[in-house]
Formats: sequence, C-alpha cells, structure tokens
Amino acid sequence: MVAYKSKMVERIRLPSREQRERNLEAAGYNLFNLSSKEVFVDLLTDSGTGAMSDAQWAALIRGDESYAGSRSFEELEAAVADVMGFSNVVPTHQGRGAENVLYGSLLSAGDVVPNNTHFDTTRAHISNQDADPVDCPVEFAHDPDADEPFKGNFSLERARAVVEEHGAERIPVVVQTITNNSAAGQAVSVENTRKVREFADEIDATFVIDACRFAENAYFVSQREEEFADASIADIAREQLGYADALVMSGKKDGLVNAGGFVATDDDALFEQCKQRAILYEGFPTYGGMAGRDVAAMAVGLREAVEDAYLEDRIEQVREFGAQLAAVGVPVYTPTSGHAVYIDAGELFPHLDAAEFPGQVLACELYREGGVRGVELGSFAFPDTDRPELVRLAVPRRTYHREHFDHVVETAEAVLEKRETVSGLQLASDPVMPEIRHFTAELEPVPSSQ
Ligand code: F0G
Repeated sequence: MVAYKSKMVERIRLPSREQRERNLEAAGYNLFNLSSKEVFVDLLTDSGTGAMSDAQWAALIRGDESYAGSRSFEELEAAVADVMGFSNVVPTHQGRGAENVLYGSLLSAGDVVPNNTHFDTTRAHISNQDADPVDCPVEFAHDPDADEPFKGNFSLERARAVVEEHGAERIPVVVQTITNNSAAGQAVSVENTRKVREFADEIDATFVIDACRFAENAYFVSQREEEFADASIADIAREQLGYADALVMSGKKDGLVNAGGFVATDDDALFEQCKQRAILYEGFPTYGGMAGRDVAAMAVGLREAVEDAYLEDRIEQVREFGAQLAAVGVPVYTPTSGHAVYIDAGELFPHLDAAEFPGQVLACELYREGGVRGVELGSFAFPDTDRPELVRLAVPRRTYHREHFDHVVETAEAVLEKRETVSGLQLASDPVMPEIRHFTAELEPVPSSQ
C-alpha cells in the first residue's frame, strides 16, 4: 500500500528523439556521460537519489555543525544502537569511505577476503590494501530463472575451498553483503548469516557485514524465512546485523539520505583503529566527512528505513515494476530485488555476443526510445567474468510513481519490438583503470553491423 504523498516536486522533461540520438552519440554511448537534464526517468542508481521525509528535512535544519562533540552525532549513535545494535560509530562521507577506514584497519598485503559478492568499490578497496577479494556466491546466484528465495547467500562451500587453497591465517576478514547488490540484489537469509558467523569463528576471522540495504534484506527475510514470519522487520534487522563484528554502511541506500556512511562495531580496539584512520581520510570522528546536518538526517532516515509501511511501499513498488516488465515479455531476473529490476540483455538480444556488449546496447536503447537511464552490469562493467548480461534499473527511494514506471515499461516494449535490428557496440577509448572502465569508457556502434 502507498505510504507517501509529495510535498515538493522537481520538473523533468523528455528530450525529443533527435536530441536523445545526439546526446547518446555525444556521450560516447556511455550513459554516465549524460547530463541529468537529458534524462527523463533516471534509474542509474538507488544510491543517494531518493527523497527525504519531512522529518529528515526538519532534522537537517537543526543539524549541529560543531567540529567536535556534535549533538547530531549523538543522535546518529543512538539510531545506530537502536536500529542496528552497535555501540561505536565512525561516520564517513559515504560507503566507500567506510570501506577505506575499515579495510585499511583490518587488512595487510597478501590477505585474502571472501565475500558473497564484492561490490565494485569493495573489491577496489580490498585490492588497494594489496589483498585479494574472492567472490563466494551460491551456485544459482547468476541464474536469472532459478526459483530460490535467497540467491544472495554466501557459499560456505566456496569459502572453505578458499581456506583450503590459501590457509586460514591469510583470511583475517570475511564479508557478507546484504542484499547482494552485485548478484542482482538478491536477499541473504539469517540462517546463512549465522553460518558465516560460525565459519568466521572457525578460522578466527573478523566478520563484516556490508549493510547498505540491510532493511530491504530484513523485509525479504520476514516474507521468506519461516522462522521470522511473525517477527518485526526491526527485530530481524537487529538480529541479522548482530552476528557481525563490524558493519560498513552507505547511508545513501537504507540510511535514506543523499550523502553519508559509517563503520559500526562493538569491538573497542577496532573502533580506536578506525577512528584514527578516519581522522586521516574523512574527518574528526564526530562528523567524519559529513556536514552535521547530514548526520542528523541520516539518524532519522535509519529509523524510517525499518518501518513496515515504508518497506512495504518500497518493495512492492519495485516488485510491481518487475512484474509489469515481465508481463510485456522483457526477460527479468527473478525474484525481483528490493532496489532494482535486472534485465537479462543476453536473452533479449540473442544475436549479439558478449564482445558486442548486449547489456550496454540495451541500456543505450532504453535511453534512445524513452530517455530512461539504467546501468549495464555485464561484460562491459565486469570484463573476464562469466556473468549474465544484466542491465540494472535501480529505483530511487520514495521518488517515482506509477506513471514513471508505465513510461519505462512502454519504452522497454518499443525496444522489444525492434530487438532484431539492434546492432552491437565496441570500445572507442582505452580505459586507464580497466576494473572501473564502465564509468568513463566511450563506445561506438560496431561498423560491420551498422
Ligand atoms: N557496498 C555496496 C553493496 C554498494 O551497493 C555500494 C554502492 C557501496 C558499498 C559503496 O557505497 O556509493 O556510498 O560509496 N552502490 C551504489 C550502486 C553506488 O549504484 O549500487 P557508496
């Protein structure tokens, strides 16, 4: 059921088809290069793009900008303790700042870090410590059609193989990402979290949860894990997070703010280490790279994120969007995640092979046909992995309405109609850092198929 009405609006415009064609070419067929005013419905990310509540705007005005000992920080500490169950918090400018602070404190060169699936900034921050990030998704994580409730789970079997290969002493940290963004945003069960806790104890490792979308995950647990059928979302969230030694959090997702993040832990020694490192890279530990007002808004947002009515509205909106797309014949990854609908572009364009970037082609065609911006998460973003050619249409929180989704569905239908005539893309520039090339690389249509 819908849980919000609008109190402030932002004008959007659909550029003409000719303008969209020109924009696409000028952007080098990379939608990160578009200006937001050239986009009609922006589903590039759910990160920092949502609408804040009136209570958050009120908190923003009352934010305390004191360099040290800010009252807004005390509000954040209280919210993290109540909602997530952790007593020590180090605020950071966003999630990757928290990754730098935490992984910089925990890792040394030569370490190995298993994770159900590393998000790209997580992978980069672990590599930045000269450590080796290893993905341990469950077998069916990359099967868009497998009918399983927790396709985001951490594979203990794979992680044990990593221990066999490298030895437990090289694995000081185990990470579980909930929900599993890089595996189509799939949910993680509490049972799986308990097993990862046991595994971390067996090998004497620190257990970190990447909690970006912890509330959405708790909602799925309440729907799909029998033990929790009668539990409140807030209780599930606290229980699941409570198995971890530390959290890395991007407030731009389930913190319901436009900027911010933090590390949380009950380990006092680790807290001290993180604080020192935060002073170097983020700011004094009672603001950590955020404005006091943003800290205040995040404290309110965390509490709103675990309200049943908010989550029902949110998850139902994304589920309905996925169902609408599937109903017109778009191959969507199932089940639908909490923050995005993922489309299988490989299935949509069987005539294009991976080298012609079918996902990027789909993302560009959605822009060409309807000014819709999504993001490719296939062989353009992840070279050298055998993932499905997915395009993510991420849904900003509390931002778009039924009419926007109707427009996206009509746009996808227009792409479906001309699917056989669509040609592939190739790289037109050499990226400096191949692992993050999808943010900046330019492309061009493959000449032979033009
Ligand atoms: N971990 C996960 C699972 C994420 O999804 C993200 C960001 C981060 C860490 C980093 O947080 O952006 O605040 O620095 N994901 C965004 C996305 C960017 O579009 O999925 P950040």
